Amino acid sequence: MSSHDIPEENLPVEQDATHGAAVTVADENHPFADPGLPPHEHRIQDIDERAAKRSERTVALLFTLSMLATVGFIASYVTIEPNKSIYVFPIGHISAMNFALGLTLGVALFAIGAAAVHWARTLMSDVEVADERHPIEAPPEVKAKVLDDFQQGAKESQLGRRKLIRNTMFGALALFPLSGVVLLRDLGPLPGTKLRHTMWSKGKLLVNMNTNQPLRPSDVAVGSLTFAKPEGLEEHDEDFQTQIAKAALMIVRLQPENIKDKQELEWSHEGIVAYSKICTHVGCPISLYEQQTHHALCPCHQSTFDLSDGARVIFGPAGHALPQLRIGVNADGYLEALGDFAEPVGPAFWERG
Ligand code: FES
Repeated sequence: MSSHDIPEENLPVEQDATHGAAVTVADENHPFADPGLPPHEHRIQDIDERAAKRSERTVALLFTLSMLATVGFIASYVTIEPNKSIYVFPIGHISAMNFALGLTLGVALFAIGAAAVHWARTLMSDVEVADERHPIEAPPEVKAKVLDDFQQGAKESQLGRRKLIRNTMFGALALFPLSGVVLLRDLGPLPGTKLRHTMWSKGKLLVNMNTNQPLRPSDVAVGSLTFAKPEGLEEHDEDFQTQIAKAALMIVRLQPENIKDKQELEWSHEGIVAYSKICTHVGCPISLYEQQTHHALCPCHQSTFDLSDGARVIFGPAGHALPQLRIGVNADGYLEALGDFAEPVGPAFWERG
């Protein structure tokens, strides 16, 4: 755009100082004259179409580089082993995946920024314009002018004419967000129904967590509190914490005549009842038992459960009773589970799911 294209009202003209416009001649009231805008100098791209084409190719190249870097980011994320390390001077040994992700993401962002800057500096209009300040409430004719200016700016950006730039820019901007989308994979696999089930299944022996021995009914005395885990779950197992957090059991022996809940009695063996040790408030392990009252107490927020009455909550913030595990005795005389818990263990958010 040449200076001939500038709207007349934007050119530095001598105006009446008494109306608050630009002062181009110093006087008593305005000792400093407004020098106005310097003369516009054309860039090589303004007068030489071949130079403009070169700039266009440079911008397109940078946008293309950004696209390639984004593809490289995704490829790095998918193909590089997370625990692989490489030596990078002068940093030393670092994670190969982190290095590749950082590098490609940096190049993708830098290339988009560099392309935008180069485009603005070499091809978009560089004619400086001055505009008067106006009241915030713009009159309709000013709004119309803004719209005109916007359309003029869009025309001057040559977005419609330079299709190569436009297409590669849209490609780079459309592809770049994919970098964030692939990172969603790091949220881990969907849990499916895993959180609704535990290791307990029909025939699994109840193993004493202290002695690591399968429990017989005679091992559980009236008034005692025994903690148990499923047979086959060992402390050195990789997923021990995950599994025990759901499967930990609390076993007590009651006099059968003291059991008030009918289902509890059916699911017990000779007065031995097995309940989840995981508090239904926010999941603390329950560890206190009062044999006189048959109350189990969670130490975190004092939720209290009546183990003689279906482990219903009699005090505290827990939302529902502890899940009971149905148990029996196998042919060898060991206590065994007769299935999984009938409901998910732990906090009550399951009820809202
Ligand atoms: S976690 Fe048991 S009462 Fe809060």
